[in-house]
This record gives sequence, structure tokens and C-alpha cells, in this order.
Amino acid sequence: MNARELKKKYLDFFESKGHKIIESSSLIPENDPTVLFTTAGMHPLVPFLLGQKHPMGKRIANVQKCLRTDDIEEVGDAFHNTFFEMLGNWSFGDYFKKEAITMSYEFLVKHLKIDPERISVTVFAGDKDAPRDEESARAWINLGIPRQRIFFNPKKDNWWGPAGKTGPCGPDTEIFFDTKKKKCSKNCRPGCNCGKYFELWNLVFMEYNKTKDGKYEKLKQKNVDTGMGVERTVAILQGKDNIYETELFSPIIKKIRELSGKSNIKSERIVADHIRAAVFILGDQKRVVPSNVEHGYVLRRLIRRAIRYCRQLESKSGLLVELANLVIEMYKKDYPELSENRDFILSEIKKEEERFKKTLEKGLIHFNKIRPINKMIAGKDAFLLFQSYGFPIEMTKELARERGWEVDENGFKREYEKHRELSRKSMEGVFKSGLQDKSEMSIKYHTATHLLNQALREVLGNHVQQRGSNITPERLRFDFSHPRKMTKEEIKRVEELVNEKINEALPVKREEMSLEQAKKQGAIGLFDRKYGERVSVYTIGNFSKEICAGPHVANTKELGKFKIVKEQSVSAGVRRIKAVLE
Ligand code: ALA
Repeated sequence: MNARELKKKYLDFFESKGHKIIESSSLIPENDPTVLFTTAGMHPLVPFLLGQKHPMGKRIANVQKCLRTDDIEEVGDAFHNTFFEMLGNWSFGDYFKKEAITMSYEFLVKHLKIDPERISVTVFAGDKDAPRDEESARAWINLGIPRQRIFFNPKKDNWWGPAGKTGPCGPDTEIFFDTKKKKCSKNCRPGCNCGKYFELWNLVFMEYNKTKDGKYEKLKQKNVDTGMGVERTVAILQGKDNIYETELFSPIIKKIRELSGKSNIKSERIVADHIRAAVFILGDQKRVVPSNVEHGYVLRRLIRRAIRYCRQLESKSGLLVELANLVIEMYKKDYPELSENRDFILSEIKKEEERFKKTLEKGLIHFNKIRPINKMIAGKDAFLLFQSYGFPIEMTKELARERGWEVDENGFKREYEKHRELSRKSMEGVFKSGLQDKSEMSIKYHTATHLLNQALREVLGNHVQQRGSNITPERLRFDFSHPRKMTKEEIKRVEELVNEKINEALPVKREEMSLEQAKKQGAIGLFDRKYGERVSVYTIGNFSKEICAGPHVANTKELGKFKIVKEQSVSAGVRRIKAVLE
């Protein structure tokens, strides 16, 4: 079975079980300052897990584009990758443990034809926050999974979420596939990463909300959130022991081999994984470009890492652009945004390659200034080359060897760890305000964003389209398409218009309707593909109408005074406004 067949089977199955199929959301979360990328299918659905009504109903399923970069150093082994597609089904206060488990089992055994003997599961053992999950264990037993293949684990293994610091979470039951390899030790069991057991599917029972002070409160409703990785599941169904031999990667690897002078499995896999991820980030309508901050930095890191490994493969230059084109071809049917953005994707990769070449040259100048002590390059120097000029330690070592020197690798590692700790702390800062920050201030900023969007269209023209939005309780940030810097007068006019609308005390109304109807009524929305058939639309007086999941204030008079504090460029054709409410 190939990946497309798996995705179709999955969606057809859940549709037959009363689920509505929704499109994948953007890879870059909207109105959510707490995480850089969508890391799971549940991410865009948080408001509905918290109790808001989903316009498509209580049962939803989809295939979601996801990116996880925490394990980037691990990419190259059998199963680690950064970009992946996640199959997911959700119940928003509808079915719960027994039904979710029964449906999963039916799908695996009847539709994917997985031998039930090869299935084992883990469940939550219970602690002070939540009871032992006998209900899930019983459901598995009723389906015929014997007790000895049901394993109880503590929170660190069998609890999922919240995705940020706060938000919906709960105990989970994980479904494992037994490869029938020998146990690595007496204690080898599902969850062991020796390669005997592969996690296929995670079923999370989200009935808790983790609060800022670390407490677990019961949510209004009992939800189900599941996730199954397409790449790994396909590998298992095809009897492969790594994802890179599936059709999702093998054409890319083949091309790398054609165009490079050396073969090295790890380097090939890294290049293949990173180029796929870079294409999907660049192909997202949000128009992220390589930079030194946030999303752009992750993108830069992926592209530069791919270039470095291409160099190790002695590939001819321009390989990445060719590979990117291949990835677009492979995925354009499922993700038309990739071919729509083809020129942008390819030109950004090319530009980044050129920029990186320049820093490499600068890095060499710096390298030539290094004075080793007793023929040993200090860890600090090696780290500076890594950090500022993107020199991998291997490259520094090679250069050193040519001169008869060595590199203090342990010193380098210490510097690296120190830096990692710092960046982990700063990432935690990103997470701190909690996933889906629903503070009063953020809600106000969210409504202000709608007013700003419309005001920009009235003052600058209808070419203005939202490219990104990021809200914290302190400010809003709004990216939009516009070819020029705004003049002082334009900024002033936009500010006045928003304040006029605030002072008019306009009611904010939410309605549900079909996407068709919303479009007919002229509602502006972000990305057509993201929405399901039924959408929620927010109308502010007769000034603004937007497709949006909310939440919003009830009346614009709650907002206070609106002030634009900055207008700047993000990239060619995209401007950014930062604004506050006083
Ligand atoms: N949200 C769960 C996961 O990512 C299903 O594993």
C-alpha cells in the first residue's frame, strides 16, 4: 500500500463512521504566538477541544502537514524526520475511549490487514492527577488483545499534551506493531527504541486542561485526539525497516545519487528530509523566507544543513533546486499550494544557497585568523565557526587536519550544550504564554486584528491580504501583502479608521454558514484550502466580515485606543504592522 492509498483509506473509513473531512491547516499556526510550527493535527483544533462548537460537527478527520524539529540531529536514522503528514480523527465531546479504540482496531485489522497478533498497546498507569486507565485496557481486552500485551506506563510515556505549556491534554493509549525481531533485553517492551516495536498510532483522551500553575482541570467535554504518522505507517505496511525506502523518499534519494559523487546513507537521508521540509515551509501561503529569527531561522537551518550534507556528497551545485522541484512534483496533487508557489520556493532556495556560499567564504577568512594553541583549535573558536558561519564541526576538523592541527571537540561540545540550553530557555519563553492564549487581552487583540485588516484594505486597496498574524497579551503583529512602505498619512488614516470603528461601538457577531455562502457574502478569509464546508464567520457592524475560528469580544467598544507602533518590511511585497491597544 502506498501513502496516497493509506490516506484515502483512512479518510474514507472515518467518513463512513460519521466524520467530516477537513483540509490540512497551514504549517504555521495562526494567531498563536506559542509555537512556531504545527506539530500535530490537534494544534489548529485547540479551540474546539476547549469547547467551542466546530462548524462541521463533533466528528472530524484529516491529514495534517506537521513539522517537528526537536530531533533534527537524529534525522538520518531509520525513522526520524522533520516534516511529516499526520492522520488524525477527533471527537469533540462525542465518542470516547471505547469507540475510539474499537474504530482504530477495526481500521488496522480489517482495512490495513495488520495481523492482530502483532499488535500490543500501552495505557496510562494512573497518578495523583488522573486515575489508572482501566477503561481503555478493558476496551482492548474486549477486542481480543490479551493482558500480557497491554502495558501500563506512567505520565512520562502515556500522557500527551498540552502542545505548549497549557491547554488540552490527557492520558493516551499507544498502539505498537511488533516487527518480530528478537527482544533486545529481558525488559524490551513496546516503547523500547531498539527497533522491535514501532508506534503506529496514538489515541489521546483529552479530558483535562493544564493550567498556568501546572494543575489539571477537567475540561467541559471529553475529547478524542488521535495521530498516526503517514511515513512510518507506510514503511511498516511495506515491510521496510526505514521510511527512506518508501516512495515518499526513494525518488529523492535516487536523484541525489545520480547527481553526487559519493554515496553516504546518512547524508542522503538528511538532504532528502530537509529539502522536503523546506519545500513545505516555503510552499505555505504564509510566505516564510530564510532569516535569523523564528520560522525563518528554522527554514534557514534546514536549507543550510542540507547544503552542508550535499557538499559532503560532493554533489554538483544546484542539486537542492532540482530536488525541490522533484518534491513539488511528488506532492502537488495533494498540496496544490506547492505548484502555485513553485517559483517562490525555487528562487528562495537558490538565494539561500548563494548567501550561504558567501558566509562560508567569510568563515574561511575567519578560520585563517585562528591561532591554535599547541596545534589545537579551541572549542570556543570551533563553536564560533559553527554558530556564525555555519561550519559543521566535521568541516572544521577537516580544515584543521590539512594544516596538521586538531580541534578540541569536547570544548566544542561544551559550548554547544551551553548554547542549546540558552536556546531551549528562549524557546520556553515562546511557549510560556501557553498554547492558545485565551486571555482577555489576546481576545481584544484578535478583534483589533480584524478591524486593522479591513482598514488596510480600505486605505491601501483590496490587494491587501493577510500573510500572517501573531498575537500576545501585549500587542498584535500583522503581516500583509503590499508592495511599498506605507506613508505616514496612510498609517495615520488606518489608525484613525480603526479607532472610529471602536468608538462606533459595533457589535461583533458570529454565524455559521457554508464556505460558499461566506464567499458570496464577501467574507475575507485566509487560505481557502484550510476551511471545511461549513465555516464560522465574524461580522463587525457592517465594516468587517471574516472567516475565523474566534474567539472575539462582543462589542468593539471594549477595545480601548488602537495605536500602530511600527510599520516595516518582512520580505519582498510583505509588510508588517505592530500595534497596541492603550
Ligand atoms: N496529538 C497526538 C500526537 O501528536 C495524537 O501524538
